[in-house]
Amino acid sequence: MTKKFYKMTLPERHEFLLHNSSLTEEDLKTWLPGSGLNLGTADQMIENAVGLFSLPLGIAQNFIVNGKPVLVPMVVEEPSVIAAVSYMAKLAQSTGGFKAWMSSQEMIGQLQLLDLADIDAARKLIETHKHDLLEQASALNPGLTRHGGGIRDLEVRRISKSPIGAFLVVHLILDVADAMGANMVNTAVESLAPLLEELTGGRAQLRILSNLSDRRLATAEVTLPVDVLAFEGFSGEQVRDGVIEAWAFAEADPYRAATHNKGIMNGVDALLLATGNDWRAVEAGAHAFAARDGRYTSLSTWSKTEDGSLKGSLTLPLAIGVVGGATRVHPAAKTNLKLMGVEHAADLGGIIAAVGLAQNLAALRALATEGIQKGHMSLHARQVALAAGAKDEQVQLLAQALIASGKITASEATRILEQWNGTDHGNNPQS
Ligand code: MEV
Repeated sequence: MTKKFYKMTLPERHEFLLHNSSLTEEDLKTWLPGSGLNLGTADQMIENAVGLFSLPLGIAQNFIVNGKPVLVPMVVEEPSVIAAVSYMAKLAQSTGGFKAWMSSQEMIGQLQLLDLADIDAARKLIETHKHDLLEQASALNPGLTRHGGGIRDLEVRRISKSPIGAFLVVHLILDVADAMGANMVNTAVESLAPLLEELTGGRAQLRILSNLSDRRLATAEVTLPVDVLAFEGFSGEQVRDGVIEAWAFAEADPYRAATHNKGIMNGVDALLLATGNDWRAVEAGAHAFAARDGRYTSLSTWSKTEDGSLKGSLTLPLAIGVVGGATRVHPAAKTNLKLMGVEHAADLGGIIAAVGLAQNLAALRALATEGIQKGHMSLHARQVALAAGAKDEQVQLLAQALIASGKITASEATRILEQWNGTDHGNNPQS
């Protein structure tokens, strides 16, 4: 039997991926220090570049999304995120994994129209000329249709109450296909501004995309029979009901919802980072979407099915791309997209939603049963050991010693390490 991925050494994991994924030796090199993103590219990507900043990249196992097994690259500094999500994905295998889809790839560009003599008359005028405006905006942005995208619609909203009084907002709806789309949207709304000013006599002030991309929603669903949920003295029914109670807490209380959604974003952000996507845009959109009905609430829902299984669902806006931007400039991001075999934004969106849902389940299952600290402690101890300067196999040994001592602190780690590495070799478990 092949060794479990998490039990392999790092070189063994690379060897495994060479034989069990589409990645080549060249691809794997993009993950190694000095071979991925280089200083020259970094200097082109941002201003005032001074260097590179690394984070660990791991691979979540066991995911099946829409019937297809997928290895999920995750960039994250927090221990236990990848182990927890892989375990939930394993449980989900019993029912064929996750179903996931995206509503569309439509983004919203906003135009703020000020100084209108008659706001309602201006609104009517824009609505009457909608067809012309859309045609003209499309003619000004011919590149949009290149990958199957294009300008789709235009909407007018009246903001009646604001610190500067009433004004109009025009939404330009664009299908951005497989790009994140920020540049496309911003260019298109800027090109529409003079047309609207001419038509209405108003002043087009802000022209920018909205990060509340609620026409670009990703949804994932999973169903887990109770028998796979049972563990260590907890029955499947107890775990199922505990998860639903935990979700109800987040559904009803914004203080809990913020933490609940943070757990979802642990998975979402890790995959966004690994693929060079704009995680700030997705974070902003997710939290605005969670408050769309006027009260901040849970992004996921958990319920009991007729046959007693646990059913989960997660919907969140995902302004993501698989072409353009850092996704195609950062060598490791390219490798990570290749690892998943995703060609379209919708494929990536489905995987991200599935990972977010699995991450949420991992947290709720732990919180509703043994608590979060038990699982966290051994990983936390490893981090304390690393920070104290432990190397290679010393890390695990020191982590175990810290847990056994009941004191997982930096000073205890340093004390034990000094003992091992100092004169008292008799106490060094490696000697
Ligand atoms: C920790 O990074 C995430 C959790 O707090 C999420 C949650 O409470 O649901 C465990």
